[in-house]
Amino acid sequence: MATTLEKLQQDIDQLAKNFANDQELDADKLRTKYLGKKGLFNELSKEIRNVANEDKKAAGKLLNSLKNDLETKLTSLEQQTTGSWVDVTLPGEQPSQGHLHPISQAIEEISGIFEKIGFTRVRYPEVDWDYYAFESLNMPDNHPARDEWETFFVDLPESKEKGKVVLTPHTSNGQVREMERLKSKPPIRMINIARCYRRQQDVTHTQMFHQFEGLVVDEGINIQHLKGTLDHFAKEFYGPEVKSRIRPFHFQFTEPSFEVDFSCHICHGTGKVRGKKCSFCKSGWHEVGGAGMVHPNVLKAGGIDPQKYTGFAFGWGVERTYTLREGLNIDDIRYFYSGDIRFLEQF
Ligand code: PHE
Repeated sequence: MATTLEKLQQDIDQLAKNFANDQELDADKLRTKYLGKKGLFNELSKEIRNVANEDKKAAGKLLNSLKNDLETKLTSLEQQTTGSWVDVTLPGEQPSQGHLHPISQAIEEISGIFEKIGFTRVRYPEVDWDYYAFESLNMPDNHPARDEWETFFVDLPESKEKGKVVLTPHTSNGQVREMERLKSKPPIRMINIARCYRRQQDVTHTQMFHQFEGLVVDEGINIQHLKGTLDHFAKEFYGPEVKSRIRPFHFQFTEPSFEVDFSCHICHGTGKVRGKKCSFCKSGWHEVGGAGMVHPNVLKAGGIDPQKYTGFAFGWGVERTYTLREGLNIDDIRYFYSGDIRFLEQF
């Protein structure tokens, strides 16, 4: 039975239409049905036998283009469907697990060390009145000692009694606040850990950082209690062989005042490693912060009788204290706040 090119074209169109409307979703099955050995395309190709000899070439072209067309469509279908097949019986993918920021970990550890020896962790405002940050700490308005704290002032109305609003430049604002909270009734054993802000930024300073502040007030508190507490912290946080050292200094809110150092865990306080200067500390010691015996004027500001009670206080940077730890070797503390997960993941 002879077939004309026209009839062949109609059959080709019909097959293409059937393919387009086919309800079969499985790409494999579609391929067998249309392009398989006994598939519809091969079936249709047999018609070429019945085409007149002079039309055979044209018929071949028509069939070829149908084949190419089916091939492209099937391939794209296969690409769409691979991967979308889900084995619901497989165990689910584990969501990646986060962890506390290294500075939060340090804060938890520091709180724990002091809580074990009877301190209570408290938090006070990080945006506070000048009165708590300076005035009540024996630093009246215009006192030159204030220059030490490169303070951010907040553009808010002043209070008649408490002055301007500042971003707390140290955690010492918690001292008189804690005396007020306890209605001026010692004993006080506070550990205040909070954010602090200063106008400074370089490899060892960030504008926002953390401090922890200890305050103990009771009858008969003296420097030995302070020294004992510092030594205890040094051993718990850095290791049993680390010692603390206090050197005379000046703060308006403590008298006497000290700077606090911890011995270097690399050279054990000698300043030398195999005959050479220790490159980590250069002197055997690391300075971490300030301390002292609470000034009578501060006790008075908190309503406590300095004739009856004495106290000590200390305050350090959390970041600084933490980076001195063995093996950390962090040369730029701004990494802590860069939000770079490659850095944070290591802790
Ligand atoms: N607030 C002081 C500082 O920021 C540290 C300090 C706290 C000193 C308590 C003495 C007593 O440098």
